[in-house]
Amino acid sequence: MLKLRCGIAAIAFIGMSGSALAADPLAVGRQMLAEDNPGELFIDRGKALFHEKRGPNQVSLEQCDFGLGPGNIEGAATRLPRYFPDTDSVQDLESRLVTCMVRLQGFNREDVIGKAISSPRSHGSDVENVALYITSVSNGKKMNVALRHQKEYDMYKAGEYLFYRRSGQTDFGCVQCHGESGKRIRLQDLVNMTDKKQIQEVVSTWPAYRGAHDTIRTMQWRLSDCLWQMRLPDLDYASDFTIAMTTFLHYQGNGAVIKVPGFKR
Ligand code: HEC
Repeated sequence: MLKLRCGIAAIAFIGMSGSALAADPLAVGRQMLAEDNPGELFIDRGKALFHEKRGPNQVSLEQCDFGLGPGNIEGAATRLPRYFPDTDSVQDLESRLVTCMVRLQGFNREDVIGKAISSPRSHGSDVENVALYITSVSNGKKMNVALRHQKEYDMYKAGEYLFYRRSGQTDFGCVQCHGESGKRIRLQDLVNMTDKKQIQEVVSTWPAYRGAHDTIRTMQWRLSDCLWQMRLPDLDYASDFTIAMTTFLHYQGNGAVIKVPGFKR
């Protein structure tokens, strides 16, 4: 887990209502940064890693099946998470990538997962860079997660349940920070994920370049950071919790046009 975190007096400030974005001077700065997004550099890194023969087996990731058949990555991110028969499980982009790095390339699973979330101000981990590259290949395409397989549906329902469920010492649920428009913590607008437009903006912009960390970040990282804000135990990378949550969020955001890397504070 990432140890460097911005301390927050999160709890005290929830409920402070933010002014409309149009009147927000910070929005101007964010817009300027988004136009010159350093995250673009990480796409090239991910692309090189994807095509390179690597690991003990010296093979590339070109044979990895992200749901549309080996080698077909265009549009694959729009349908993830999805059910994969070979692992008999629902996987998001990152957990699928880990599967291929282990099964195809021969890397050690614990090693890959241990390094999946990179240190701030780094060049990003292999998983982060490749996840960004694969998602970027779907730029301009619409999020289109389906709940056809029973396990996809079950993951969705679990994610929905977890989104609304309150737990832990602070008795927080995602919905308390992300269930209403106009909420803020410090200077950060909290996305209302029960609003179609706002959730679409979220699901179409990860992986994202995060300014505060000066590196690329993925949805797995975002979720682990929010769990920390809720003072819950450290989130296991690629755990069922993360897949359930991502299935729920992505499905809610269906129709959003993918445009990565996003730019986050
Ligand atoms: C204590 C308040 C709090 C709770 C509870 C919380 N989050 Fe967050 N969440 C935040 C903050 C703060 C941000 C980052 C805002 C920023 O950086 O501008 C954030 C950002 C996010 C984002 C990225 C939004 C974007 O801009 O793309 C996602 C996705 C997310 N949270 C999901 C969740 C989920 C799922 C849960 C429940 C497991 C949850 N959050 C619980 C405070 C919270």
